[in-house]
Amino acid sequence: MDQTQKLEEQDDLYAGFIPAYKSFATDAIHIGQEPEQWKSMAVVPPISLSTTFKQLEPGNHAGYEYSRSGNPTRNCLEKAVAALDGAKYCIAVASGLAATVTITHLLKAGDGIVCMDDVYGGTNRYFQRIATLNGLEVSFADCTKPELLKAALKANTKLVWIETPTNPTMKVVDIKACSQLAHEYNKDIIVVVDNTFMSAYFQRPLALGADVCMYSATKYMNGHSDVVMGLASMNRDDLNERLKFLQNALGSVPSPFDCFLCNRGLKTLHLRMERHFKNGMAAAKFLEANPNVERHEVMKRQCTGCPGMITFYIKGKLEHAKAFLSNLKIFAIAESLGGYESLAEHPAIMTHASVPEKERIVLGISDTLIRLSVGLEDEEDIIEDLRQALAAAVTPKDEMIGLRGVLQAEFEVRRSQ
Ligand SMILES: Cc1ncc(COP(=O)(O)O)c(C=O)c1O
Repeated sequence: MDQTQKLEEQDDLYAGFIPAYKSFATDAIHIGQEPEQWKSMAVVPPISLSTTFKQLEPGNHAGYEYSRSGNPTRNCLEKAVAALDGAKYCIAVASGLAATVTITHLLKAGDGIVCMDDVYGGTNRYFQRIATLNGLEVSFADCTKPELLKAALKANTKLVWIETPTNPTMKVVDIKACSQLAHEYNKDIIVVVDNTFMSAYFQRPLALGADVCMYSATKYMNGHSDVVMGLASMNRDDLNERLKFLQNALGSVPSPFDCFLCNRGLKTLHLRMERHFKNGMAAAKFLEANPNVERHEVMKRQCTGCPGMITFYIKGKLEHAKAFLSNLKIFAIAESLGGYESLAEHPAIMTHASVPEKERIVLGISDTLIRLSVGLEDEEDIIEDLRQALAAAVTPKDEMIGLRGVLQAEFEVRRSQ
């Protein structure tokens, strides 16, 4: 393929999406990383392991007292993520779920949460099995239909929790419409978007009206499957003040080493996401057999591109899904997503086992649903792996049904061209 063909293909991939965020790569590489902040003028932020910092006299310190309340390496990471989210502030915590818990501590007993009905299993488990025990009222609504979100809002609703696209069934929620609707109902409702699947490179929830953008940074943001971490970005001064307080008061902070790694991962976020999109598209095109794919126009209105996440139903039964997964050679059968390596999993048995079976059925998390996180390997090798595993599962390609994926919008565009 010559250079012109390559560029045309690239243009085609991004056709119809909102334009990339200005200076994203430059910000990822430079914001918060200024060498001048260190006496040594280190270009790469050092890993600051000290748990405590010398004060010149009691109460007179150089910005840091104790590593839980503030750490120089964490500070570099938080500044970089805030910039990438188009936010004023960011806090880093020990995991994505720690971010969920910290944010939920903004509420008090008697307050209500309305959560998108299809979310990461651990989010569902925390809201249903822990938050409710602490006196919070939790309800679920299919936010893909904003009128259902509206119907679920109540006088005590303080938090609206959206995940888009959802894990694992890739439903797309209109962030702008839902944020507007919630804020019109009550301006004090905090709208949170779990942006884990998209990363800061493809979606900016704060620009669409959300109050908090959170991540399991364990996924694309770090991108190397070697850090468990959570992030939450915001513009509101009051929310930052409260969440910074909670970060310290609840204490689930990430280690300086993990902050160093995640900060390093961000330096290649733009490059990784572009390759995830390209490889994900190639894999989805290969898998696509059913022409009756839903449209997802919303996706294009609110995103600059798509990550490498694909879910599909394999024709047959559980045994076919298991055979497909067991025969994969490049894709590892593993939970998690968003790393450089390709992963495949069975949501009903693995990531979403904590969602009650009845709810899984309603959400379409069946025995034949398979989720792929397409990595950064060579495209041909990824396709060949899928091909041979499908063949081994004795499931001809044309029997696959109901491909869902964040890449659906692209198929529609391609078909109409
Ligand atoms: C969309 C989403 N949100 C939150 C989480 C929880 O993050 P963590 O595993 O870092 O606690 C996950 C984990 O898989 C996730 O996929």
